[in-house]
Amino acid sequence: SVLMKKLAIAAVAGAVMVSASGCSLVTSGKRIIRVSHAQSETHPEHLGMLAFKEYVEEHLGDKYEVQIFPNEILGSAQKAIELTQTGAIDFVIAGTANLETFADVYEIFSMPYLFDSEEVYRSVMEDTDYMENIYKSTDEAGFRVVTWYNAGTRNFYAKTPINTPEDLKGKKIRVQQSPASVDMVNAFGAAAAPMGFGEVYTAIQQGVIDGAENNELALTNNKHGEVAKYYTYNKHQMVPDMLVANLKFLNSLSPEELQVFKEAAALSTEVELVEWDKSIKEAKQIAAHDMGVTFIETDVEAFKAKVLPLHQKMLENNPKIRDFYQYIQTVNDSRKGDH
Ligand code: GCU
Repeated sequence: SVLMKKLAIAAVAGAVMVSASGCSLVTSGKRIIRVSHAQSETHPEHLGMLAFKEYVEEHLGDKYEVQIFPNEILGSAQKAIELTQTGAIDFVIAGTANLETFADVYEIFSMPYLFDSEEVYRSVMEDTDYMENIYKSTDEAGFRVVTWYNAGTRNFYAKTPINTPEDLKGKKIRVQQSPASVDMVNAFGAAAAPMGFGEVYTAIQQGVIDGAENNELALTNNKHGEVAKYYTYNKHQMVPDMLVANLKFLNSLSPEELQVFKEAAALSTEVELVEWDKSIKEAKQIAAHDMGVTFIETDVEAFKAKVLPLHQKMLENNPKIRDFYQYIQTVNDSRKGDH
């Protein structure tokens, strides 16, 4: 896998050198589209990307070939976002926590207990008109989001049970490389340890950290359930992953081509959402029955109370999230009677 990584990096570096020397990124007459993501080849996002590839090649296959690089082989999230910014690669799937240091507006999703329910979260993400404005607002960063994928609800898991917020005290918990996530985990009373996704398994195994926080697929797809046996449904975040495109690449497309890429992106989301729900059900089964993970239901309100003051603090510090926050509150309020 280290060799794979080196080969993949060499391929991209080669492409960059070619483009720097004035030739275009063309092999056998086709423009190669490179997509990087952090997940395994059985993950819903990879299946979504396969549909994306198939759709693009079915409609524009004489001109474009889509190559998907899974498992962080082109680098962990932050590195892959930089490659997308500069145009060394064309697309990356990145979690909003990793995007927030590149484009302030995405910090909103790191806000704990932002959405009152999964229904609110989904309806906001599916409001294409509203989200389009958010996606377009980061052009100055050199990239634009083209669609979203469900990355579920994030919860704590560790080597020892977390039944109440007090159980987080003194625990070292891995967070993403996101200042807002660091603040959140510290506000819960734990000690935040930011690191890349690919390092988490070994860090738990070797006792460098006590646990982490993620959706259920981290237990199975990334095997964290082998080393952390307690998963607590405290539900601190509902978050999307974003399909991020290099802006110059999008602008280089004809209107007809852009339309095909947009349709491919929309299709990849449809596929991902269906696969997501299936995968989560399966992951819970596998984690509980084959890996011996205990799932703990808890008093979510007790966890919420610890971190709600962060809403005000984040809104004060980041003007870019204020409108979006207000909008989400109106959706929260409109659904209040539903539960
Ligand atoms: C999930 C999420 C990724 C994120 C990762 C992490 O897998 O889908 O976008 O990077 O968690 O915690 O680093």
